[in-house]
Amino acid sequence: MTPPSTSPIAIYPGLATKRVVITGGGSGIGEGLVTAFVEQGAEVHFLDLRDQSSDILAVGLDGEAGSRAIYHQCDLTNLEALKRTLTDIGDIDILVNNAANDDRHSLTDITPAYFDERIAVNLRHLIFASQAVAPGMARRGGGSIINMGSISWHLGQADLALYETSKAGIEGLTRALARELGSDAIRVNCVVPGNVKTPRQSRWYSEEDEAQIVAEQKLKVRIYPHHIASMVLFLASEGGAACTAHNYWVDAGWL
Ligand SMILES: NC(=O)c1ccc[n+]([C@@H]2O[C@H](COP(=O)([O-])OP(=O)(O)OC[C@H]3O[C@@H](n4cnc5c(N)ncnc54)[C@H](O)[C@@H]3O)[C@@H](O)[C@H]2O)c1
Repeated sequence: MTPPSTSPIAIYPGLATKRVVITGGGSGIGEGLVTAFVEQGAEVHFLDLRDQSSDILAVGLDGEAGSRAIYHQCDLTNLEALKRTLTDIGDIDILVNNAANDDRHSLTDITPAYFDERIAVNLRHLIFASQAVAPGMARRGGGSIINMGSISWHLGQADLALYETSKAGIEGLTRALARELGSDAIRVNCVVPGNVKTPRQSRWYSEEDEAQIVAEQKLKVRIYPHHIASMVLFLASEGGAACTAHNYWVDAGWL
């Protein structure tokens, strides 16, 4: 297995003045995103439920000039709380709709209540967060919304029907919002990760499973959160100025 790279990610000077919101920034890929945007000098607000890991992350990123990573405790399935939090943060330039939950379930497990709960955690908040921040982005002259998709539904993986339904919907949502918001210079894209090595993923994948994934990928590497962050930074930055309405894959060539 290739160990995580410590090579520096590109610096995009334009990101230093940006105000960024990242959902699910308290762990996993989101933690990598928060760290990467702070390293660009951006003002980063991240929303999560996990107070302990989120507080540790915000404190760890505290710089001499004051923290540029601000944690907001917010359950994204509570739309009132989401709206209140985004209103408190004010106008922003970049929204990364990252949070999700990939709990396993079979078709027979799905009740109407479970359906609503899974869609709420994996799809609904992306729409309402985008709705809340779009007017402020327009006031600031434009913006970038980056939605986190998943390779899972492209592969047709087992026991993830509602997660995969949500992730398929996110790709459709990306196309629709890119059309609707493009005239306000708001770009909307979707990043599609392959299997990313995060603490939570070790719950689902053994070392043998990981080796199997690497065997199936064209590149014989594991993907880490900083690989996803590289793509997100590009799409958020001036480098991605002409990119909207599309999917950008970071899957080491698995599909
Ligand atoms: N890790 C992978 O292999 C992989 C693969 C494909 C796609 N993705 C996608 O990347 C994104 C990040 O995945 P990850 O692996 O880092 O997940 P993760 O579970 O490690 O982290 C998700 C974060 O979102 C937060 N969160 C979940 N529900 C929330 C809620 N209701 N309110 C507030 N915060 C909430 C969690 O507390 C956690 O900090 C997700 O959209 C996921 O679907 C991940």
